[in-house]
Amino acid sequence: MAVHMPLARLLLVHRLLRTSTSGQRRLRSSDVLRECRRAARTLSTFPVRRSESQGDGRDPSPLGGLGRLLPRDALFPEVSQPRDPEEDASVAASDAHGEDAHVATREEGDRPPEASASAALPGESSLAFGELLVAEHHKKRRVEFRKMFELRAGARLQSNWGAVAHDDVAGRPAGCFLKSTRGVRFLVRRASLEDYVLYMKRGPAITYPKDASEMLMMMDVTEGDRVLESGSGSGAMSLFLSRAVGSKGSVLSVEVREDHHRRAVLNYKRWRQSWILRRGEEWPDNVQFHIHDLSAASALLANQGFHAAALDLIHPQLVLPTVVPHLYPGAVCAVYLANITQVIDLLEGLRCLRLPLLCERIMEVQVRDWVVAAALQKDGSHCVRKAPVLDRREEASDGAFLVKLRKYAQ
Ligand SMILES: C[S@@+](CC[C@H](N)C(=O)[O-])C[C@H]1O[C@@H](n2cnc3c(N)ncnc32)[C@H](O)[C@@H]1O
Repeated sequence: MAVHMPLARLLLVHRLLRTSTSGQRRLRSSDVLRECRRAARTLSTFPVRRSESQGDGRDPSPLGGLGRLLPRDALFPEVSQPRDPEEDASVAASDAHGEDAHVATREEGDRPPEASASAALPGESSLAFGELLVAEHHKKRRVEFRKMFELRAGARLQSNWGAVAHDDVAGRPAGCFLKSTRGVRFLVRRASLEDYVLYMKRGPAITYPKDASEMLMMMDVTEGDRVLESGSGSGAMSLFLSRAVGSKGSVLSVEVREDHHRRAVLNYKRWRQSWILRRGEEWPDNVQFHIHDLSAASALLANQGFHAAALDLIHPQLVLPTVVPHLYPGAVCAVYLANITQVIDLLEGLRCLRLPLLCERIMEVQVRDWVVAAALQKDGSHCVRKAPVLDRREEASDGAFLVKLRKYAQ
């Protein structure tokens, strides 16, 4: 489905404003409207669920190919000056190769590392062996290939689009383009924490980044806080909490299964090891992992108070009697549940347990990515766009529910 949406409207407003304030050109408003409608017709936008932009989905970048659809005289001078005829020619050439315009106009990546090493982010050095990186290949606004890997001397990144020697990556700044043995450009960048939790080895399902962000907001976690988490699972939420509480805070992460506990600890350690290579300073060692059934962990929690609790386990109502006495009054317990039946069970449990908890909110976090793309083909006809195929792994993250419980003073 292709529909004209806010960007087209934005262009319209933008250009109307420009015309009304510009003394250089005096277009009649009907001319402006006609011109704007013509530009808007060349744009097509449609929403893509987050799942579709990962894995085999499309890249939602609005850059590729759009700029050249706008009439030159419709642009501000600041925009039109850098857009010289050579750029238009290179965009056309890149289309012939099926590459995105923004990819085609970047450095080829065959420049010697010394020439661009100073481009590293302040506080970060050039790419070093042992770091966790992501390589990706974009084609026609789609991410065709994306892989997280650890940079190792002598190793090769293999793909259907050719190989890249890790030795060629080391010493370059993050965010550089490199050519594979088949001449395909790969963007190589450092793995963000979001990349890491999505690509790291898992035991049980993780708390997805979109939900983890909302839980942090719900709990209002601040640097220096002490937070209780359970279960540790694969360690994704532990890492988000670790970053939120910082070096002055701490997280107590409780997991009943030994294999899951081990996985969470390994994932936590691996991220910290990569971080020190990247930043030259330690990621705070602020998570204590324990193997325990939280419903029977009164001894473990004895004499401890928590600013917040994050629960991602199958029957949260069974652990609340143990957790609630250790929450400070006013503290929030954020509960992550996979389906609405579990939410109902939790609410029923709360009704029966008579704990000093208010259920403030029940929500589902939805993310809608957008593809903003050219709808006009070179022959003037309009493209018919098919909805991208869903990535099953991300699809599984949809439909999770968050319940916000606040402890009140008695
Ligand atoms: C979905 S996973 C948690 C994933 C974790 N939030 C993450 O981001 O990786 C749920 C975990 O809770 C653990 N669990 C279930 N009941 C528990 C209990 N009573 N006490 C402690 N852990 C428990 C399970 O063993 C499982 O590892």
